[in-house]
Amino acid sequence: MTKSQEQLNLVRNYHELSKHQPGKYAKGPDSLDWDMQPDPFREFQACKRIALPLTANQLEHTLGDILTPSNVATQTFSKESIGQLLEVSMGLSAWKVYGSDRWSLRCNPSSGNLHPTETYVITNTISDMESGVYHYQSHQHCLEQRSDLTVKLEMQESILPPQCILIGLSSIHWRESWKYGVRAYRYCQLDLGHAIASIRYAAALQGWKIHLIRQASDRQVSQILGIDREQDFHNCEMETADILLLIDRNGQTDPALLDMEWIVTKIHTSEWNGSANVLSPHGRMKWPEIDKVSEACNKPATTPMPLIKKKYNSVSHTHKDLNASQLLRQRRSAQAFDSQTELPTEDFYQMLSAISTDHQTLPLDCWNDVAHIHPVFYVHRVKNVAPGLYALPRSTVGMALMRENFRDQFVWQKPESCPDDIPLYMLVRANCRNAARTLSCHQDIASASAFCVSLLAEFDTVLTDSPWKYRDLFYEAGVVGQALYIEAEAAGIRGTGIGCFFDDTIHETFGIQNRSLQCVYNFTVGMPVVDNRLISLPPYSHLQVQSRHLHKR
Ligand SMILES: Cc1cc2nc3c(=O)[nH]c(=O)nc-3n(C[C@H](O)[C@H](O)[C@H](O)COP(=O)(O)O)c2cc1C
Repeated sequence: MTKSQEQLNLVRNYHELSKHQPGKYAKGPDSLDWDMQPDPFREFQACKRIALPLTANQLEHTLGDILTPSNVATQTFSKESIGQLLEVSMGLSAWKVYGSDRWSLRCNPSSGNLHPTETYVITNTISDMESGVYHYQSHQHCLEQRSDLTVKLEMQESILPPQCILIGLSSIHWRESWKYGVRAYRYCQLDLGHAIASIRYAAALQGWKIHLIRQASDRQVSQILGIDREQDFHNCEMETADILLLIDRNGQTDPALLDMEWIVTKIHTSEWNGSANVLSPHGRMKWPEIDKVSEACNKPATTPMPLIKKKYNSVSHTHKDLNASQLLRQRRSAQAFDSQTELPTEDFYQMLSAISTDHQTLPLDCWNDVAHIHPVFYVHRVKNVAPGLYALPRSTVGMALMRENFRDQFVWQKPESCPDDIPLYMLVRANCRNAARTLSCHQDIASASAFCVSLLAEFDTVLTDSPWKYRDLFYEAGVVGQALYIEAEAAGIRGTGIGCFFDDTIHETFGIQNRSLQCVYNFTVGMPVVDNRLISLPPYSHLQVQSRHLHKR
């Protein structure tokens, strides 16, 4: 057996054993040991900290502006613009208080609010900051300087083109496995997709483009982020390399031209500072299934994807006048829906348009690969769209796979209300509220909403040659999920990601009897019922209090 076949088998095995089934959930901890609960904030002690200004509330661009990038003037890289980028993407969005409990929320969502994703900034082009590798600490809204590149770079030497910086993302699997056990690896990948999309939206507020760096190997990403440095993670939860994003001010830089090995050499041999904090001082449980799949998904260096230069047309949007920075920071998951509000037709199609590939716009414009995710909808309450099951194939391959593997009885009829350029097809007219709830591990949010959706991934064909693309399927689903979150928020309603679902029962519902298509994520959208028992506090009042104390001293 070749190494690739072995990896493929491991990935397939993991996928099967991490499936939930009615009456038999994927293996999780027998009970939650609250002493082990990981700290949601990673930080590096003993390194220089750069406080970032909190100025995202001064950003005036509208949703319409950021959807039409030529409407936003390109900002230079500075502490302020990077601070804004991080504040509206990976920063805190609020604190919630209930009795004696207090927890923070962030602009990017996360399964169980556990936030496994860590963010790094790599730069030698920010005017008011030293060149280096920085870790973003969202609680303090600061950058921790892990590596100082100034000593390593010769005069005039630059690791990146002058109009670019890199953002690196990594995951701490333990943060999710602590609560969710074996299935946690999937959640980390979905969260990562949400993070990519959050950063894409935030970059648009600065007039910046994003390219995913597809060619880098995980080893290269680890070395660039310094997360391979075991000496700095003594007795700590290690991070796993995920992806690098090239933030490009003019959108013209071809990421294929970056010499990854040269960047690695310069960064890896630079001066490193800081040591990571321990997240669970009272011990951790081992989840060998996750270590195995993570190893099997280890990405080698690959041929760079060709740069697809985007031509952005002016985008019309029903809610184009909303303040974009505010919208991105107010995103929340609904915890309950009202079981009655009917979603207006145009809002429904606006959401579909944001995730269908014909209308490639934010955030999916950063996804420089063909679509491998194809949604199926459970429509409950949408004006002029009959309740029932629907399919939205996002490519001709997706359409062919769905038609071949779905039930023969499905009618494949375009709803009369559907615009010509949105490939939505009714499969069967039905009240599918109970089905959606049952399929989503009996969660009411799947039935009390306006609609629920299952994101089906092209599975066998994508993984056969490149098992590590298992991660990509979840990333893409996360990006689609983030588009739905933001669109729902814009429409004055709310969405919620649903990672808990009965995989094979969903497949059976549509007639899928093989692994051609596999559900990787559910999502639900509707009118939220707000829990008034929770008190909401501003995200960064603790920093203002700290700075008042400092001033008094
Ligand atoms: C990948 C993913 C899976 C999720 N799964 C569920 C779920 O099954 N049920 C649920 O009620 N919420 C789910 N959520 C919502 C999270 O609980 C929510 O994002 C988190 O509590 C943070 O709250 P916020 O989104 O309001 O910031 C999921 C979110 C993500 C990103």
